[in-house]
Amino acid sequence: MNYLSVKDIDSITEWVSDAIELKSKPLSFKDLGKDKTIGLLFFNPSLRTRLSTQKAAQNLGMTTMVMNFDKEGWALEYEDGIIMDQGKSEHIKEAAQVISQFCDIIAIRAFASLEDKEKDKAEIVLNGFAKYASVPIVNMESSVGHPLQALADAITLEEDKKRLEGRKPKVVLSWAPHPKALPHAVANSFVEMMQKQEADFVITHPKGYELDPEITGTTRIEHDQAKAFEGADYIYTKNWSSFDQYGKVISKDPSWTISAAKMALTNDARFMHCLPVRRNMVVEDSVLDHGNSLVIEQANNRTFSAQTVLKKILENLK
Ligand code: CP
Repeated sequence: MNYLSVKDIDSITEWVSDAIELKSKPLSFKDLGKDKTIGLLFFNPSLRTRLSTQKAAQNLGMTTMVMNFDKEGWALEYEDGIIMDQGKSEHIKEAAQVISQFCDIIAIRAFASLEDKEKDKAEIVLNGFAKYASVPIVNMESSVGHPLQALADAITLEEDKKRLEGRKPKVVLSWAPHPKALPHAVANSFVEMMQKQEADFVITHPKGYELDPEITGTTRIEHDQAKAFEGADYIYTKNWSSFDQYGKVISKDPSWTISAAKMALTNDARFMHCLPVRRNMVVEDSVLDHGNSLVIEQANNRTFSAQTVLKKILENLK
């Protein structure tokens, strides 16, 4: 069993319920991963994913090994049949098989290059490991998706929406400005997760910031941010670069920053963001520091998202 994408969740209701149960008793399966090792391979920086996935593994009794592959590993070649006479020292075929000798599960973070759309969509790093490793693979954010974040977001929504007393929530995914070109992974997985939920779900962004239409499908897109915010119960904010003009920053329009005035248009909405976040660029201090901000609980739920996934994989290994 791999966890590569939100599509690997067979029942979001069951997985979220399992996660909330684990959160109430984090050590209830503390021997499940005894004598098992997870290798966490990072090709990019991380705070939350790195620590929460280790915490989750430890709660299940696993040993963790962490490698900053971009700095500490050999540069990997992913193409088959190539003459390796350039900078790449090791082929993914050997690397994935060798790591499988030491680890019972391999978790990988490898962001999009934002240079080559087709290569990024092919997920060459994640799928390379999935193809050649002999153990389960977990996606800790790849070119296209961040399914551990999306599951944590689903847990956070489930916990918070009790206040709505059964009413279907209105959830808005809003683009916001950022100085750098960022990947689409978090937004993509949030969209895929919301498509599995009972909710009135709307995406809002400036024209030109459409996500991959193969992912958004028939989900409603509203280019008027203020209109999208009307009556919203949740504002999930994220920056992403253009998908059409692949990897380009085509606008940094500050009128899209999430402000207290914008939040006043909503139905007392809760603010969500995966973090890290640029204060007063993506979101004003007054929103992030407000009692309606769920960002720290989202980060906390990363442990129980990862723990749910690792528990299912460990049970499947038996
Ligand atoms: N949200 C998230 O994945 O955080 P990190 O990049 O710090 O792991």
